[in-house]
Amino acid sequence: MPSIEQALKTAKQELINAGQTDSPQLDAELLLLEVIKKQRSFLFTWPEKLLSDSDLDCFRKLLEKRLQGLPIAHILGYREFWGLKLKVTEDTLIPRPDTETLVEAVVNLSISKQARILDLGTGTGAIALALKSELPQAEISAVDFSEQALKVAKENSKKLKLDINLKHSNWFSAVDQQKFDCIVSNPPYIEDNDPHLKCGDVKFEPLSALTSGSDGLKDIRMIIKQAWNFLQANGWLAIEHGYNQAEAIQQIFLHNNYKNIKLYSDYGENPRVTVAQKSTEEFNHG
Ligand SMILES: C[S@@+](CC[C@H](N)C(=O)[O-])C[C@H]1O[C@@H](n2cnc3c(N)ncnc32)[C@H](O)[C@@H]1O
Repeated sequence: MPSIEQALKTAKQELINAGQTDSPQLDAELLLLEVIKKQRSFLFTWPEKLLSDSDLDCFRKLLEKRLQGLPIAHILGYREFWGLKLKVTEDTLIPRPDTETLVEAVVNLSISKQARILDLGTGTGAIALALKSELPQAEISAVDFSEQALKVAKENSKKLKLDINLKHSNWFSAVDQQKFDCIVSNPPYIEDNDPHLKCGDVKFEPLSALTSGSDGLKDIRMIIKQAWNFLQANGWLAIEHGYNQAEAIQQIFLHNNYKNIKLYSDYGENPRVTVAQKSTEEFNHG
């Protein structure tokens, strides 16, 4: 029977050899923790502790899936986001740490505690639920056009006891004619033919959650244009985008008469979130 330390070392080497992950040590730890049901600190406090045969067997089964490339979030069935444990399935995007930049940007806007907020393309509900956890009095609505994703978001909302209004909608198509103080979105923004779509975890995620036309901006263009009609005067629109799209997105915001455009960088210091405010000037969006 190997110790925790030995099991992790062997698993890490196998993961490196398989070449499916950039984080072999962390992956091995997360899989082992799932089996032994302990906090991460246990691994460093008790490295010499021996694994039972059944624990080792379970660990090997999970590891085998990772060696074949299956994302950790799909193997475990959940992903932590903004400190919330969110159910994830193959029908949802796996929430990314980078998206916490969007949540942080919105929390730091000067919006009222009772703000009305709309999350477009909510997936697991990650952004909407994170915002509800920070702004419990806010009235948060979230939409997605994937019925399966919405089902997962509903489960997450119920389990976390964070009450949000979830609705099936093609962007704004089923959103009531009401005005929001803030609209947020992490929409699809990858170019249709981007070769990265065939790599790593991404190849297990729904394409409809990832791609948006030949330049990746089809959905963002639509959201920026249509959001105008659903924002209060001076309301904010906050959008996550690719690291190389900031300039194009600023132009789209300017073209649509938004003001106070601000850019935020993710944990890797790449410009990944743009927020802008609806100006009070008259502007015809057709
Ligand atoms: C990049 S994922 C973001 C998911 C989640 N907000 C997050 O950050 O983890 C984009 C989401 O937009 C949804 N989506 C794509 N096209 C849509 C549309 N036309 N109307 C509504 N939602 C859409 C997808 O189903 C997916 O859940």
